[in-house]
Amino acid sequence: MPAKIITVVNQKGGSGKTTLSMQLAGALARRGHKVLVVDADPQGTATRWAASADEKPFPAPVVGLSAAGVKVHREVQKFIDDYHYIVIDCPPAADSPVPQSALLIADLALVPIIPSPLDLWAAVGIRQVIENIGDLNEKLTARLVINQCQPNTSLVKEALEVLPEFGIDLCGTYLHHRQVYRHSAVFGQTVHDFGSKAAPAVAEVDALAAEVLALLHPTAVKSETSTSGA
Ligand SMILES: Nc1ncnc2c1ncn2[C@@H]1O[C@H](COP(=O)(O)OP(=O)(O)OP(=O)(O)O)[C@@H](O)[C@H]1O
Ligand SMILES: [Mg+2]
Repeated sequence: MPAKIITVVNQKGGSGKTTLSMQLAGALARRGHKVLVVDADPQGTATRWAASADEKPFPAPVVGLSAAGVKVHREVQKFIDDYHYIVIDCPPAADSPVPQSALLIADLALVPIIPSPLDLWAAVGIRQVIENIGDLNEKLTARLVINQCQPNTSLVKEALEVLPEFGIDLCGTYLHHRQVYRHSAVFGQTVHDFGSKAAPAVAEVDALAAEVLALLHPTAVKSETSTSGA
């Protein structure tokens, strides 16, 4: 079966695209899936993340395809029979046409969003891009992923209240603001490598990976449920 493609996009820089891409790819690889990370961002952050691994390699290979520009979908196609999942880390859509190309072949678009008014306004642009590409790519599903959540602040509470009306459904799992996400990047790993102190981060990353798998394989989940309910 060809790989399922997860494209991680947002209009805005710094919303957590690379963090989400790497944590998700690592979590899927740890479940035994063959996963490829495509670094479609000329900043090369995903590539640098994996290159920072010291004692053991990052659990999924990272290939840099930013030079393909608007043809990135064609380049990704070359890997489609060799992996179960391909995660594409995009540059901010405001600066680049690459995300549109990466969405053309995606099964799932994940939009990490920091719950704040500024980030919500900026995300309106990517909602439009996803809607437009959806006319060309009928299999495309999209979800917002709350990132850097600090639930006890009033601005976050307000943003979380309006997000369900945003026009893209929300993943049920939120990634919270935690230092271990930053440490993962520095050490070229995922939160799974930071022992018991990282347990809350591991739990949310694994829950998100499970949600993503359910979105990509809805019939498998349904038949599992009906079998276990029988
Ligand atoms: N949940 C989190 N908790 C704490 N820090 C985070 C979290 N998510 C991301 N960060 C930090 O925020 C910064 C921006 O994250 P990241 O590089 O993933 O964003 P990005 O959307 O890929 O940025 P760019 O648009 O520049 O590619 C990084 O320093 C990262 O370590
Ligand atoms: Mg990035």
